[in-house]
Amino acid sequence: MPIMQNAPSARPIALITGITGQDGSYLTELLLSKGYEVHGLVWRPSDLDISFIKPLANNPEITGKTLFFHYGDLADGQTLRRTFQEVTPQEVYHLGGQSHVGRSFEIPESTCEEVGMASLRLLESSRALAGSVKIYLASTAEVFGAAAETPQTEETKFRPTSPYGCAKAFMTQISRVYRESYGIFVCNGILYNHESPRRGEAFVTRKITRTVAAIKLGLADKLTLGNTQSRRDWGHAQDYVRAMWMMLQHSRPDDYIVATGVTHSVQEFVEAAFAVVGLPWEKYLVTDSALERRLEPTQLVGNPAKIQQTLGWRAGHSFEELVREMVQADLADLASKNAEAVPSK
Ligand code: NAP
Ligand code: GDD
Repeated sequence: MPIMQNAPSARPIALITGITGQDGSYLTELLLSKGYEVHGLVWRPSDLDISFIKPLANNPEITGKTLFFHYGDLADGQTLRRTFQEVTPQEVYHLGGQSHVGRSFEIPESTCEEVGMASLRLLESSRALAGSVKIYLASTAEVFGAAAETPQTEETKFRPTSPYGCAKAFMTQISRVYRESYGIFVCNGILYNHESPRRGEAFVTRKITRTVAAIKLGLADKLTLGNTQSRRDWGHAQDYVRAMWMMLQHSRPDDYIVATGVTHSVQEFVEAAFAVVGLPWEKYLVTDSALERRLEPTQLVGNPAKIQQTLGWRAGHSFEELVREMVQADLADLASKNAEAVPSK
């Protein structure tokens, strides 16, 4: 797939790192619908062919006109600076990096490098840019870890329980220093779990909906999970990327919790997903302690009052709608792939 250079534009210009991920793909659609010129940093070129950005990347009406891709690894400060200078973005959405909490225990150094140091590099690149650039950083509920209070607010103390959470805590705190020292317009979205049919299959919700759909279609016979009593504050990714954009439209940079304020257990998610396909979960669910984490955060639930009152943000999807949408999307996807695999007579 060709990588296009940008042409002069009267549109607002945004740069997205992690454009091929769940949030990156939804954010790209949102910004294009608002008339932006969007530039995406692509880490591995093959990603374009397999990610949810593919329909946009393959659309000649969009790619090379309002959507552009640039190769770049977040570990490479030179490339990052050059991309900033070429693109001269007004808004930067930094979503790229290793995002799996469990995996961060296996690869702590690269996680801290990609999540922590890369964010510092990005702040430095922004500082070198002439003019004003607004930056969104993808912080997370994981910074609260063994949470000091429930629900958490923007004032809750950071007590991360994973290498990933530690790296995001560094990112959040160093960006506050840059905001106060250099006057950089940088916002941290402290986002709680958000899901969609585009969620990576290594995360629990998508693992559940994919497997439930496969069981319904006769392609699998069990769902194996780790800790099913674990609770999360789950929202819909489309609502959460809208929150990212809203933060950068405000007159003042600040940090915001983005959450629903309601938690459900993994077990409840499983039951809701099996209910969509009308199968008894008891028959298929298996637990395996090997899938449990060394340490889990406790009581992660966010209080979204500040973003609701300051920016007027509201979550637009219920838990039940989210589960249904994900199961139905996996049913449709697996059914079409299965039909492709069976030659027609
Ligand atoms: P995701 O689907 O895992 O997307 C992450 C993106 O970053 C992918 O495009 C990935 O490419 C890219 N990436 C990984 N390592 C990179 C590197 N070294 N250089 C450049 N790009 C790299 O994650 P998401 O759910 O969209 O989340 C977006 C951001 O929000 C992440 O930073 C995540 O930590 C944070 N966050 C997510 C949630 C959530 O519930 N989804 C909540 C709070 C915060 P590959 O696909 O090739 O790896
Ligand atoms: N992934 C996974 N796979 N998780 C499982 C499984 C399994 O087979 N079985 C049980 N779980 C439990 C995990 O132990 C955890 O308690 C919970 O399900 C959610 O796990 P994930 O879906 O992997 O998400 P996460 O909460 O660890 O992290 C996500 O949310 C964070 C924000 O709170 C990620 O998107 C992070 O990037 C994000 O920052």
